[in-house]
Amino acid sequence: MTQTNVPLVDLSHQQKQINDVIREGFDRVIAESSFIMGPQVDEFEEAWAAYCGVPFAMGVGNGTDAIEIALRAAGVGPGHEVILPANTFVATAGAVERAGARIVLADCDEDFLLNPADVAQRVTSRTRAVIGVHLYGQTAPMESLQAAVPDGVVIVEDLAQAQGATRNGVRAGALGHVAATSFYPGKNLGAYGDAGAVMSTVEHFADRARRLRNHGGTVRYEHLEVGFNSRLDTLQAVVLNAKLALLEQWNGQRREAAARYQQLLGGLDGIGLPRVVIGNEHVFHLYVVRVPVRDRVVRELNAAGIGAGVHYPSPVHLLPAYAHLRHQRGAFPVAELLAGEIMSLPMYPGITIGQQEQVAAVLRKVLER
Ligand SMILES: Cc1ncc(COP(=O)(O)O)c(C=O)c1O
Repeated sequence: MTQTNVPLVDLSHQQKQINDVIREGFDRVIAESSFIMGPQVDEFEEAWAAYCGVPFAMGVGNGTDAIEIALRAAGVGPGHEVILPANTFVATAGAVERAGARIVLADCDEDFLLNPADVAQRVTSRTRAVIGVHLYGQTAPMESLQAAVPDGVVIVEDLAQAQGATRNGVRAGALGHVAATSFYPGKNLGAYGDAGAVMSTVEHFADRARRLRNHGGTVRYEHLEVGFNSRLDTLQAVVLNAKLALLEQWNGQRREAAARYQQLLGGLDGIGLPRVVIGNEHVFHLYVVRVPVRDRVVRELNAAGIGAGVHYPSPVHLLPAYAHLRHQRGAFPVAELLAGEIMSLPMYPGITIGQQEQVAAVLRKVLER
């Protein structure tokens, strides 16, 4: 097979567009030595809150802390149960346990999103929150999740993979009571290192998150509770300000690339393409297809220079770290089935038609074997 080279993710196109602005911004931060909580952090928090359509956004150190701080800020802790999907990045689960609450997993649907009917069956008198994870770039059905749990249960969003996505015209981050995101470099909006944010539509949750991220206080040496050191660096805020201005353009390019894959791969046997759920605007953080002989297909694509990946090979309950949840194989059948079939294809703003044609050509050959 001829050697091609299409990476799973390529950030260089984005970087070229913003290099100059970022260098100037870094120079200013260095000149002012405003490395922690500098004015660029305030600027970003304001712009990001406005973009999401929420009144409050607080920059934090990473997405995992963001989920934990969001939960703690909403009063979730020991004695509480938090329902979350079995098919998520492990950080969602880790943050729940770190907050002191008990993980209650629920199954997903065939669009990879938390299934409200399964959530409803797992509600108990201890249920305090449900986390809708907007996996791969489209939002979980938040209004159905809300309807599946009693009033008073906190509705949380993990939008690490869906910055800019909307559901019925409402932006991810504004669909629940409190939300968390990661700005890990490869995300649709990514920093040049670890970074994250907590968003909220509820003022007292926002106030608490603001103090939790900074040793439990917002006034120097006044510590009202035990908190974190989890602030957004000023240098990362410079990057995020520059990139936020281009996020809509880049998300549009991802959608165009997804439409192109649909054209190129739509007629292929043996592959299931991602669907956009009614009411959702997808931002294709990942382009995840289903193939029954996944491990062989990924191996052969990689050998041919196509950067295929798996997000994620194991649902949470089958990871050694979560053996204590005591779920056997078969407990979450849809999540388990999908984990064996999912494969992510190259997806990033700036991917060319030629590159996507190469992906399709190699994939066709591999699937025919
Ligand atoms: C769905 C989801 N939740 C949480 C996280 C954790 O974010 P971070 O790596 O910034 O801690 C990530 C990304 O890594 C993610 O994809």
